[in-house]
Order: sequence, then structure tokens, then C-alpha cells
Amino acid sequence: MKKDKPKEYIYIGQYLPESKTNTCKIGKTNNLERRLKEYNQTTGLSKTTFFQYLFTCEVKDMTQVESDIKKTFNGFREKRSREIYFYSSEFFKQYVEFIKFHKLFLEEIPVKTDESKQVIKIIKKTTPSLKERGLTRKDLLQKAQKIKNDEFYTRYEDVEKEIAMYDKNIWKDKVIFCNCDDAVDENDDRNTSAFALYFMRNFKELDLKKLICLHYGGGIDLFNQGAKGYAFIYIVTKDGFKGEKIYPKNFTGSFDDPLSLKILNEEADIVCTNPPFSRAADYWKILIESGKKFLIISNFTNVITNSFIPYFYENKVWAGYNRVDWYLNPKKQLVDASGHWYTNLHVTNRVKYKNLKIMPLKEIPEKHKKYDDSKTLLVDNNYIPKGYKKPFAVSAFPILSGVLEKGYKLIENKEYYPYINGKKRFARVLVQDIN
Ligand SMILES: C[S@@+](CC[C@H](N)C(=O)[O-])C[C@H]1O[C@@H](n2cnc3c(N)ncnc32)[C@H](O)[C@@H]1O
Repeated sequence: MKKDKPKEYIYIGQYLPESKTNTCKIGKTNNLERRLKEYNQTTGLSKTTFFQYLFTCEVKDMTQVESDIKKTFNGFREKRSREIYFYSSEFFKQYVEFIKFHKLFLEEIPVKTDESKQVIKIIKKTTPSLKERGLTRKDLLQKAQKIKNDEFYTRYEDVEKEIAMYDKNIWKDKVIFCNCDDAVDENDDRNTSAFALYFMRNFKELDLKKLICLHYGGGIDLFNQGAKGYAFIYIVTKDGFKGEKIYPKNFTGSFDDPLSLKILNEEADIVCTNPPFSRAADYWKILIESGKKFLIISNFTNVITNSFIPYFYENKVWAGYNRVDWYLNPKKQLVDASGHWYTNLHVTNRVKYKNLKIMPLKEIPEKHKKYDDSKTLLVDNNYIPKGYKKPFAVSAFPILSGVLEKGYKLIENKEYYPYINGKKRFARVLVQDIN
């Protein structure tokens, strides 16, 4: 008699206890029950460590599906050589959605692991399919990319270099709020965000009153801080420095959680962080509406992007001193991205003023000035026409070099797209000489 081909499965599993839940394993097997037992044997069937399935499904070709998962979520793997992936509730959703939408996916086999007997029970399917949720594979990939883009960590030296530019007195007796800071491990600097570390190390020097940092429970958890949101509060008492983590009930640690908003509006004096790229527009709105002082890192191109231009137009934000080109990824490797400091703190003697080449239009080299189809002047390479009384279009560079502090103003609160010979060019903004 012909033997049935064994069924093939993909699973996502994880070792408990909770302190280890910042990673998960995504693997393949043709025997879910045996695999579970094997994993629990590797832990010595310990009473405190236990491997459980979070998701299991049957697929047509497990090797192919597993390889596609590796390719898609390569940046989410703890080590290239292993099938251990970063875990958070948001990431887990991504993995599951990707698998369920794979063309070789057959059906979900929801199982419940019985801890005492190390056996699995098939239970009723409850989660809606991607189709039912109106999602496509492209949506999933974009979502994964978005999360990946958020996981850029600021280097200590970049925080130090920027803060050194401001008058030290502005920090005196202030409550500093780092509301996208993910981590504080008082016993391990490597597990602490650069912002938190900087303010703790310089607490006395800056004469701060309090430091509050939030840990967001839904992110990649680079610093192994767990899936629960918390607020870290650091103060100085008569016995020395005191840091405490509080885990309010149902607190997500998100900057827009009701408790985070309360801290922002009622307690914070200066907000300092590098917020997630994917939520930058919401973040800026909340922050600027709070009316609080801030010093944050965001994308270099915000000054020429519709969601942000109105704040520059209304003079509610301006460039800080430095650009930030290097960050650390979740594997703590250097990665480049174009960021810049933005602030509403007083900025004086910008070093970048020297980049601006302000001169009469006729002195600007021909190759750096042209007119678009609507006869609007476009200048580049930081050339700025002096005494030219009509609006002209510039890129992000002169704005970040402080041209708006040199007698020029934004004349529209939105992007300007030049067309040259009918062809759309990169976004710019329109400015005008008001000297
Ligand atoms: C660009 S990283 C910067 C982290 C840290 N501030 C630093 O500079 O190293 C943005 C961080 O915000 C976290 N994050 C994502 N969504 C968030 C949210 N809704 N509220 C707070 N933090 C969030 C991400 O997990 C990520 O750790």
C-alpha cells in the first residue's frame, strides 16, 4: 500500500518565561508533536522554561515557505545563521500574516500546548484570514518595511554633540521626557537608549529635576525590556540618584497612550527623543500641539514634506544644529539614514550658515539656477539669490542651513513641485527674500 506523504508544517514558537520573549523561533516540521517534545527536551523539561507554539499551520512545501520567510524577514533575525527572529506582538502579527498569505499556505492548525503532558491539541480556528481582512501581500511587506524603518537607534555621540550646542541653563530644574525611548537598564549601558543614558549621566551637570523615559511594549525590543510598556522615572534624592520603573495597568508605553499624553501635557518641560519614522507625522502633531519645548531627530526631508511644512511655515519648529547620518540597527550594527535635529529651543550662530551662498542672482553660476515651466526660479547647491523679490524654490538643504533666519520666509505651507518641459521634478518649497 502506498504510504501517505507526511504533512508539512510551519510553526512559530517561543520559550517561556516571559523575560525571554523578545525572540521567537520560526521553523518547519512534519511532526508538530515530536518537535514540541524535542524542544522541551532541550530545556531539560524544566518546570520554569517551557517551549510553546504561538502559531502553527499546514503548508504545501515547508522548505520553500521557510526560505521565503527568511528572505522577507532577514533583518528581523537575531543571527543570520539561526531561525530565531525578533518578537513583539506587532512583529508576530507580521509573521503570521505573511505565512497565511503565502501561496503555499494550506490551513492554520491552531494548537494548544498542554504544559504538563507536552502534547498538543488541535483547537478551533478563530483568526480571520487575510482575505477576510482585505489585506494583500504587498500591504504586509510594506508594513514590515515600516517597522524595520523605525528601528534606528541614536548613537550616544550624536546626542552629546547636539546638546552641547545649547545654553546649559535651559535644562536647569527641568523635567525631561523621552517618550520614544524604549529602554533603560540601569545595570547595563548597552541596554539603555542613548537619550536616557545621556540625561542620566549628565543629570547633575545639567541640574535636571527629573527624567521620564517610556518603554513602548509593541516594538522590536532591542534592549530586552519586555513586551509591557513602562515609564522609567529618574530623580536625585538626598541619598543620591534614584531610578524606578513603573508598569501602570494597561499602559502600552506608546507616545499617544493617555498616560503618556498626561505626562507630556502636565509634567514634561523638554521633550527629547528620536521618534519612530512611521509615526512621525502623528508624533509631531501631538508634540507641537502640546506647546512644550523639544529637541528631536526626524527625517532630513521633513522640511519639504506636506505633513511638516506648516510647522516651519508658522515658525513652530526649526532645524537644530546637526544632521544625523549614522544609527544602530537592532543588531547594533551601523546603518546610514538621513536624519536631522529639529527643535523649538533657541538656536544661535548656526555653524551651517556658512553653507549658504547668498549673492545677487546674476552672480549665481548658470548651472545652479534655472526656471521651471511656470517661470519660477529654482536654485540649488545652497545658492540663494539676494534682492530677488519673487518666490523661488529650494530643496531641504538651505532650510536646514538656516536660510529662514537670514531674511527669507516660506511663502506657502505646502510642497512645491517644479515641472520642467512637462516633467515633474523633486519636491521643494517656495521661499522669498523679505529683507
Ligand atoms: C527611531 S527608534 C529610536 C529609539 C530611541 N529613541 C533612540 O533614539 O535610540 C524609534 C523607537 O520608537 C519605538 N516606537 C515605535 N512606535 C512607538 C510608539 N507608538 N510610541 C513610542 N515608541 C514607539 C520603536 O520601537 C523604536 O524603538
